[in-house]
Amino acid sequence: MCGIIGCVGRGDETLDTLVHGLSKLEYRGYDSAGVALANGSVEVVKRAGELENLRRALNGERDGVSGRVGIGHTRWSTHGPPTDENAHPHRDCTGRVAVVHNGIIENYQELRDELTDAGHEFESETDTEVVPHLIETELAGGADPETAFRSAIERLEGSYAIACVLADDDRVFAAREDSPLVLGIGDDAVYLASDVPAFREFTDKVVYLEDGEFAVLDGEGWSVTDSTGAPVEKAIDTVTWDPEETGKSGYDHYMLKEIHEQPRALRQCVSGRVSELSGEVDLDVDVDPTGVQFVACGTSYHAAVYGAQLFQEAGIPAQAFLGSEYATSPPPIGDDLVVGVTQSGETADTLSALREARRRGAKTLAVTNVVGSTVSRECDDTLYIRAGPEIGVAATKTFSSQVVALTLLVESLRESRRETIAALRDLPASVQTVLDTSKAEEVAEEYVDSDAYFFIGRGMHYPVALEGALKFKEISYEHAEGFAAGELKHGPLALVTENTPVFALVTGEGEQARKTIGNVKEVEARDAPVVAVTDRKSDVARYADHVLEIPESDPRTAAVLANVQLQLVAYYAAAQLGRPIDKPRNLAKSVTVE
Ligand code: F6R
Repeated sequence: MCGIIGCVGRGDETLDTLVHGLSKLEYRGYDSAGVALANGSVEVVKRAGELENLRRALNGERDGVSGRVGIGHTRWSTHGPPTDENAHPHRDCTGRVAVVHNGIIENYQELRDELTDAGHEFESETDTEVVPHLIETELAGGADPETAFRSAIERLEGSYAIACVLADDDRVFAAREDSPLVLGIGDDAVYLASDVPAFREFTDKVVYLEDGEFAVLDGEGWSVTDSTGAPVEKAIDTVTWDPEETGKSGYDHYMLKEIHEQPRALRQCVSGRVSELSGEVDLDVDVDPTGVQFVACGTSYHAAVYGAQLFQEAGIPAQAFLGSEYATSPPPIGDDLVVGVTQSGETADTLSALREARRRGAKTLAVTNVVGSTVSRECDDTLYIRAGPEIGVAATKTFSSQVVALTLLVESLRESRRETIAALRDLPASVQTVLDTSKAEEVAEEYVDSDAYFFIGRGMHYPVALEGALKFKEISYEHAEGFAAGELKHGPLALVTENTPVFALVTGEGEQARKTIGNVKEVEARDAPVVAVTDRKSDVARYADHVLEIPESDPRTAAVLANVQLQLVAYYAAAQLGRPIDKPRNLAKSVTVE
């Protein structure tokens, strides 16, 4: 979703720093971009579409765009279509104030009517534009810039991360409420962004802002105050990941790179958490639940469904809920632990479900990838999945790491099972085997012209069937659906033809495998091509047109391996169709609106 960058102290490199920051925020998803630089006046350049459009415009106007203090923005449309006018930054009537904003201002219509009645003229359809006009009003009333900024922010209802520059001021003002903002503290410069990658190349020192806090960045440094104006002592954290980790390292796409990073991500997730000698798991989280409710969205929801099965199987009642539905008909909470699974830690639907749970007295645990994210600050405790930065919009390594983290969580609550710990230790090598031997590219090539794609599985293969279909549809733009294998005959079978490949996830030789093979025979009888994702134990290969093989593994980890095959199928199908794999249309990496 929208991204913010700001900086003070980069001298002549301010503009390049802003554009570089925007390029690092592209992965969040956006449909327009812009910058504002203050230097006696405020110069704003903004364009709909790719960042390249902004770069071209800046090259054309470069002489007119200079300044030592600046802000930039990538916009993901909510109020008004992606046009040059609706792109951020937005200015007031005088052109003295420029503002960028992430989030939604819920009372914007009321403010806009009030400002319009007072004679202000608006140039865009956005909710954001009320902010510079509110600041203008305060300045006209005699307020100094900082007071004007604070007073304007106090009028807002909703969620926001806001940054502002003024023509005749060499500071950046910022505020946050329900939308992330982080400061980057360099030797001679200070940065501000919605996400660390925007300035990670320049510094590893960060300060996370909390809801209700204001920040001022100037040539001397930075300061943070609370909503009453009182100074706040902030800790400076150090981010541990390397800026190189956010490059493509020779892969055509971030998604492919991140799929290949899974062995390392899974090692990192387990590292130092399992005793070499006893196999005991210590996650340094203070939970001992009698029941668990998971809340999550999209891919993270699929990891949560998987996690709920792991808990159930361990004898701890557990259920997964979609974050967006949780508050609509909240289940009784009792003593249940509510676990928010979210790689970004900023998904509005998941955060609001967790807030609802907290409001009703639940203890909450965050399972996330991002240190300092909103979810980690709001929940009682956090379990980090340690996957490293994920840039591709389609979640890949974070899914596998979420499942492994949840497996560790289950094992930490009981005497750990030797076979599961052994499977977790073997998993990185088994994922590597899948990556080295996969025939997913050939399968994708053979079926790329199909009418639709179906994915079926039972037990822990069920959430992976859902995940396989989600990955496939979001990056290939082809119709794909995942089903519990047993549900096929209750309706979806009507869609199955000789032009709808069915990916069947079957491992082992138990009851579940036997039943899924029965479902495979049903689709085979309707002439649908069958791609079996399977280990050597199962004999589903006999009924399949193609086999995507995975190493034999514990039933709790086998579905992670099957999922890696499906990630590769989705990737290669999308690549053959020439889709923009890392930035699928209409989607965003971090979905900060409900
Ligand atoms: C799909 C995908 C999304 C996210 C969902 C939740 O590939 O990435 O479905 O899983 O938007 O995001 P997080 O995990 O950040 O809460």
